[in-house]
Amino acid sequence: MSLITRIAEPIRNYRANKILNIIKLFIEPGDLILSVGDGDGYVSRRIQEKSNAQVQGIDILHFKEYRVQGIPLVIYDGKEIPFADNSFDISAGVFLLHHCQNLELTLQEMIRVSKKKIIIFEDVFNNRLEHYFLRFFDTIENRTFSTEMPIPYNFQTLSQWKETFKRFDLKLIYTVQFRALPLPVRNQAFYLVKN
Ligand SMILES: C[S@@+](CC[C@H](N)C(=O)[O-])C[C@H]1O[C@@H](n2cnc3c(N)ncnc32)[C@H](O)[C@@H]1O
Repeated sequence: MSLITRIAEPIRNYRANKILNIIKLFIEPGDLILSVGDGDGYVSRRIQEKSNAQVQGIDILHFKEYRVQGIPLVIYDGKEIPFADNSFDISAGVFLLHHCQNLELTLQEMIRVSKKKIIIFEDVFNNRLEHYFLRFFDTIENRTFSTEMPIPYNFQTLSQWKETFKRFDLKLIYTVQFRALPLPVRNQAFYLVKN
């Protein structure tokens, strides 16, 4: 384990538990989940351990030094997801979409490969100051982890995300605001189904 991984371990653990406590509400035992933008796989491994679901990761980057064991990972070019239509019970994008160069294409692909359920975790903001905080913390958190990760700051307000999901014909079943880390930013979970 590298020094940075060891220092980050309690933080990764805290964050994974916060995400798990919400995402487990939408997962049924045996579900096959595609985690798009899987990153180091830490959250996926926690989900797989605690929910009796099976997780497949996919990402545009392979973070070899941080990557966990036990969650398979496919690397692709960020365009067409290399899986057939309806091949997963759930597509999940955990703090993914604001990193995508073309978030509409990625969301469309997530919908295509899911039989029904789509789970999105995102950062949201209410005003210019919160937008500034999001940019600041997104840069610090992700640049300490990777110099390659795209950071296009595709942040949206809660109502803008709702509009985006409506345009993609997704039905919003449940949404909740929470804090994945004790920082002055708002995190939002969305549980959506295909109409
Ligand atoms: C903030 S990290 C989130 C990682 C993980 N889901 C988590 O919450 O711990 C965003 C991830 O999205 C990935 N990413 C960016 N654009 C992508 C795309 N078009 N398709 C798939 N993954 C992408 C990045 O490489 C990175 O691993």
